[in-house]
Amino acid sequence: MYLLIAYATTDGQTRKIARFAADRMAGQGQAVELLNVEDAEGLDLSRFDAAILAGSLHAGGFQKALARFCASARTELAQMPTLFLAVSLSAAGQDPDDWSGLHKCLAAFQADTGWTPGEVEHVAGAFRFSEYDFFRAWAMRRIADQKGEKVEPGKDKEYTDWAALGRRLDAWLAGLSSRVTAGAASAS
Ligand SMILES: Cc1cc2nc3c(=O)[nH]c(=O)nc-3n(C[C@H](O)[C@H](O)[C@H](O)COP(=O)(O)O)c2cc1C
Repeated sequence: MYLLIAYATTDGQTRKIARFAADRMAGQGQAVELLNVEDAEGLDLSRFDAAILAGSLHAGGFQKALARFCASARTELAQMPTLFLAVSLSAAGQDPDDWSGLHKCLAAFQADTGWTPGEVEHVAGAFRFSEYDFFRAWAMRRIADQKGEKVEPGKDKEYTDWAALGRRLDAWLAGLSSRVTAGAASAS
């Protein structure tokens, strides 16, 4: 299969997650194109059998470039199996208010873009103090404090559960493969 993995990132964690997904899919024999949505102009989506989209939450919204891409490609995306990796820090915990916020942000993204992902996985991201300017570092230290998380000045702290993400990607791919096999059998 030919898979598109398109991502948007602000501080780099979603790029790392998208690369992990690309390596995982390639490791299972799939052809993969990994693309930052900023570079997606003119992309022909009809070349792909399925797509993974990934973006991260910043102040309650996903990246505008990702929203633009999903809105303009919504018709093609609706015709193929898709998995949306929604990266956030809320997904690192079990706080019901945080999770209800995540669902609202996702609903707003879907309403805004007109695209409903086939499947969604909320993925815990990271504090990336190595990427923050002074003001953002201050704001993120306050958030860490409020959540009772210990962070060290200038040091990144990653919450992404790579093993769980790997299993989720494998399950999605297995579902895809069986769908493609069933489709081929009914066509013959
Ligand atoms: C300025 C800022 C605002 C953020 N806002 C949210 C938010 O509203 N909800 C949330 O769950 N996480 C929020 N996060 C956490 C990010 O989603 C998390 O750090 C993620 O790993 C960022 O991915 P990226 O490095 O690909 O941009 C915020 C992070 C920053 C730096």
